[in-house]
Amino acid sequence: MTPPGKVRVGIAGLGRLGRHHAENLARRVPGAVLVGACSPVAEERAWARDALGVERVHEGLDDLLGQPDVDAVFLVTPTALHAAQVERALAAGKHVFCEKPLALAVEDCRRVEAAAARRPDLVVLVGFVRRFDASYRAARAHVDAGRIGTPFLVSSRTCDRNDPTGFFVRFAPTSGGIFLDCTIHDIDLARWMLGGPRPLRAFATGTIALHEGLRASGDVDNGVATLELEGGKLACFFASRTMAHGHETSTEIVGTAGRLTVGQNPRLDRVELSDAAGVSNACTPTFYDRFEDAFLREATEFVDAVRTGRPPPLTLRDATEATRIAQALAEAQRTGRIVELG
Ligand code: NAI
Repeated sequence: MTPPGKVRVGIAGLGRLGRHHAENLARRVPGAVLVGACSPVAEERAWARDALGVERVHEGLDDLLGQPDVDAVFLVTPTALHAAQVERALAAGKHVFCEKPLALAVEDCRRVEAAAARRPDLVVLVGFVRRFDASYRAARAHVDAGRIGTPFLVSSRTCDRNDPTGFFVRFAPTSGGIFLDCTIHDIDLARWMLGGPRPLRAFATGTIALHEGLRASGDVDNGVATLELEGGKLACFFASRTMAHGHETSTEIVGTAGRLTVGQNPRLDRVELSDAAGVSNACTPTFYDRFEDAFLREATEFVDAVRTGRPPPLTLRDATEATRIAQALAEAQRTGRIVELG
């Protein structure tokens, strides 16, 4: 029996990130009960049953969506599937949390927006996890308080530790490439910190430093980009899959009266080792080590939005804009041309 007042959640996708969401929903998110899961992979279904005690596990999403006692679903599936799955979930009357990006094509994002507009009673949240991170929220509070004057430049990087097993090569065909998969976080951050100005023009380029296998899907393992936005605002991005030291997400927000930086040293903890080699600290190995608290807060605020009707802190329009800009960067990288967005 589900305790009254709890949100009954089902999860689709139990891979690299889905497992963490599932563990949070089963054990740590106040107000949530994980009642169902689905995955096409038998071992993943067995894990949900055995390790998390999920009673009903399914092979396909429609079986999960067909359960009348599921109030909300978490979609942590390959990006190429997101848009159609959100539409199916809304049609089944479920609240939806969907991992970023919402979709790889702007038309798909707009279709989801239209479907959500027809069901204003349902919460839809796209997981731009940095909006739930304590440090980024503190930075945004400084911006709001005028501590750096008027912000006009955001420089942001998302750098993953090199995975010599070729994970990123296997991931590339469904991820949309480095700008849609990685830089999309920095794009959303830049829009958030700059107050959502209209994007005007974008340029991007990249290189394959290590993973030749990415060439087949037109992807790169290191990408850089520049974005011009209205009102003289600027953003610069760097994304990498080849760092030696670990996962690093760092951002600089420059204003007319000051500057904020977040995550300049991607330290794992507060320990610093001083020895004959100098001064050093350990680094967060993966994105999850860096953003664990933010993932929990994100799920908690989604469940809270379902329970209270309080709107979540970002909209589907934000998710569509992030995809639109990331698409422009991907096109610029492919063609070597400046892409007009205005
Ligand atoms: P993954 O490939 O490790 O996991 C995908 C999961 O989806 C697997 O469990 C697979 O069995 C399942 N799946 C595949 N087809 C399915 C279907 N038709 N129905 C139901 N389940 C299906 O991928 P990963 O890394 O976990 O990424 C999943 C999503 O999460 C992606 O959209 C990615 O962009 C996003 N992500 C977000 C991050 C963030 O920082 N917010 C970090 C990592 C991933």
